[in-house]
Amino acid sequence: MQLLFLNEAMGFIKHVSFSITAILLTNCVGVVEETDPITSPYEVEVPSHFPPIPVSNDNPLSEEKIALGKRLFFDPILSLDSSVSCASCHFTSHAFSDTIALSRGIGDSIGDRNAPSLMNVAYATSLFRDGGAPSLEMQLYTPIEDEKEMHLDIDQAVIRLLNNTSYVRDFQNVFDTLPTLFGLTRSIAAYERTLISGNSTYDHFLKTGDSSIFNPQEKLGLQLFMSDELQCYACHSGFYMSDNSYRNNGLYATYDDLGRANLSLDTSDIGKFKVPSLRNISITGPYMHNGSVLSLGAIIDHYAEGGKNNANQDDLINGFQITEEEKEALIQFLETLTDSAYLSVAL
Ligand code: HEC
Ligand code: HEC
Repeated sequence: MQLLFLNEAMGFIKHVSFSITAILLTNCVGVVEETDPITSPYEVEVPSHFPPIPVSNDNPLSEEKIALGKRLFFDPILSLDSSVSCASCHFTSHAFSDTIALSRGIGDSIGDRNAPSLMNVAYATSLFRDGGAPSLEMQLYTPIEDEKEMHLDIDQAVIRLLNNTSYVRDFQNVFDTLPTLFGLTRSIAAYERTLISGNSTYDHFLKTGDSSIFNPQEKLGLQLFMSDELQCYACHSGFYMSDNSYRNNGLYATYDDLGRANLSLDTSDIGKFKVPSLRNISITGPYMHNGSVLSLGAIIDHYAEGGKNNANQDDLINGFQITEEEKEALIQFLETLTDSAYLSVAL
């Protein structure tokens, strides 16, 4: 357990070249008493078949804090040339995922991975496709400082907020202090915890157990998804549609991006990535850690062929026979995972 934590922490430090001050400040927040003058405590409403969202003790939610976090999430002030915000790669209309394979940061620089959806991210037990950040509060150092993303020293980000009278007022309201790194990370993380999506056709089925909501093709797709032969549900399981584990799904025979092994330095982790949630999958493509797979049909072909036989390929990936009709049915089922909120807006 301790070793794992050490690996996590080391991986995180490797991930981000953040300053000593930042390390000190983050270390401190775990031990200081929470001093937010919470004005309007906020409880995130979740669908009845979801567990309550885990909230960290040192970051209680309030309406004001969430509003401040939302403002920061959409504000390019946190990037070096004030051109990129968190929302530049996490599009509201696409369940907070990016629409291109590899996200582009400041100066159009191209990143290394595909930006995942942030919907229901409060339930993720670690962040990043390799699990390199242990909490939402710590995760956001990376995009702010990464030279291919927002490329702003996190201390400079705080100085910018200190020079902005409107942010000074907002931080005073929420934290009763001037803008600080503590408040910056807490407020964005608080906002992210409110991003809940659980109102799809599949959710209706989960809540009621009534499969008559599905048309016959979708029902066949659901059966295939759950079947012993396809085994999709073994990894994409539960209400979150991910068991939060790291697996090698056989995408490549040899991996350029080592995935989890970048952190653990263990060769048996090469090519292992966090099992992604499949919620809203019809609007979060392109797919996989590098956005290399463009369609759900191509994904099913990949699994049916049984992967590329990487040494670490998971035992559950061993190929299956599927007819064109069954493939179409599985795609239709995967499309029932899209929240009705997205079905009503023109994309
Ligand atoms: C230039 C594009 C870009 C910007 C800007 C950006 N992100 Fe991301 N985000 C990504 C990519 C790419 C990943 C996946 C990286 C990885 O897995 O290594 C990611 C991953 C994440 C994750 C982890 C999700 C998960 O399920 O593991 C969170 C949370 C997140 N971003 C929040 C933010 C926040 C908050 C900001 C603003 C401070 C932000 N992002 C800015 C591209 C971006
Ligand atoms: C052994 C565990 C495992 C099994 C079984 C499995 N998957 Fe996956 N799946 C993964 C992992 C891990 C990834 C991410 C790989 C990466 O990022 O390169 C993934 C990615 C995906 C994605 C892309 C998601 C995204 O946001 O990029 C889809 C869609 C998907 N799987 C559907 C399925 C279907 C359909 C089945 C059954 C035919 C299935 N999976 C079986 C582990 C599994």
